[in-house]
Amino acid sequence: MTTHDIAVIPGDGIGLEVTPAALEVARAAGRRHGFELRLTEFDWSCERYLREGSMMPADGLERLRGFDAVFLGAVGFPGVPDHVSLWGLLIPIRRAFRQYVNLRPVRLFDGIEAPVRATDIDLVVVRENTEGEYSEIGGRMNRGFPDEMAVQEAVFTRTGVTRVLDYAFGLAGRRRGYLTSATKSNGIVHTLPFWDELVQERAAEHPGVRWDQEHIDALCAKLVLEPGRFDVIVGSNLFGDILSDLAAAVTGSIGIAPSANLNPEREYPSMFEPVHGSAPDIAGQGVANPIGAIWSAAMMLDHLGHGEAAEQIVAAIATVLAKGDVRTRDLGGTAGTDEFTQAVLALLV
Ligand code: NAD
Ligand code: IPM
Ligand code: MN
Repeated sequence: MTTHDIAVIPGDGIGLEVTPAALEVARAAGRRHGFELRLTEFDWSCERYLREGSMMPADGLERLRGFDAVFLGAVGFPGVPDHVSLWGLLIPIRRAFRQYVNLRPVRLFDGIEAPVRATDIDLVVVRENTEGEYSEIGGRMNRGFPDEMAVQEAVFTRTGVTRVLDYAFGLAGRRRGYLTSATKSNGIVHTLPFWDELVQERAAEHPGVRWDQEHIDALCAKLVLEPGRFDVIVGSNLFGDILSDLAAAVTGSIGIAPSANLNPEREYPSMFEPVHGSAPDIAGQGVANPIGAIWSAAMMLDHLGHGEAAEQIVAAIATVLAKGDVRTRDLGGTAGTDEFTQAVLALLV
């Protein structure tokens, strides 16, 4: 039997609740399709930070390196500043393992009433995941004085932008052949004009893909007003981050949204995690929607070569949602994490 070695980092808050749900579903799919997931759990989290002074051990990245994939719940919790927890765990993994594509599919499931006028939403946000606005370059000066200031540099490299654009154009070519680039080159004078130039350059290499670009502000409005018109949306690290929560909310809840942090060259493990965070406001209550995590696990199985198992998991989610009697609170239901997970599992035996 094929065995895949998976590093599991449940993390914080509802990460601890949705991670077991997702992996239970993934393992059930494995039993059906003749593969096994060997799980190694790591307690890297804010709790660990408070106990030991770091989110992960000094050799944490080295320890993850040999796995076939990483599955992560969510990172961050009140008590540890968010930039400390995230730059101590999630972001270093994305960067060290060259997970430069963050793939975030968005789909309106039957039976879910979208909070917008739309019936058919099926798009993918391709988010640049290792550079852009997320950088440590900059500084704070004159703390506590009238001239206090903060400077934060954004980093856009030809290599970094080109590779994610090529991935997005390629994906659009395999889907409905339409790509939208998120920009803001009317207000940002160096980085985004460069991004736009590279989009033009890469578009010439992908003549089969129709493309356009939208300023991020107008794009947000269009995503709310006519989300059905989009196919692939590519954006910088920050724009992609914002667009993915917005697009997920447009389809009912950010609790649904999955993500794959991909190292397309497979030099290092890729990482799979729901788009949402640790949701301190509902953590510990057993009410978190596990769909984002379960769908992320399906994306992991697809990445590991089990496309059919992945499709069956997503189909099972769709069936439960269409039936409508088992839904978590964020989708207007009363089911808890476990009840929803059991309903999905029942379709996979
Ligand atoms: P969040 O996604 O945790 O929560 C936003 C809102 O959505 C909350 O009201 C929450 O209850 C709700 N929500 C989120 N996921 C849900 C689910 N599965 N089911 C039902 N409701 C859900 O975002 P936030 O409040 O901005 O961040 C909280 C913490 O999580 C912060 O520390 C933040 O840095 C961190 N965070 C981590 C990740 C990650 O690990 N990838 C992602 C986003 C935020
Ligand atoms: C996400 C999260 C992270 C990000 C935060 C927690 C640093 O919002 O994965 O979408 O912005 O990348
Ligand atoms: Mn986010």
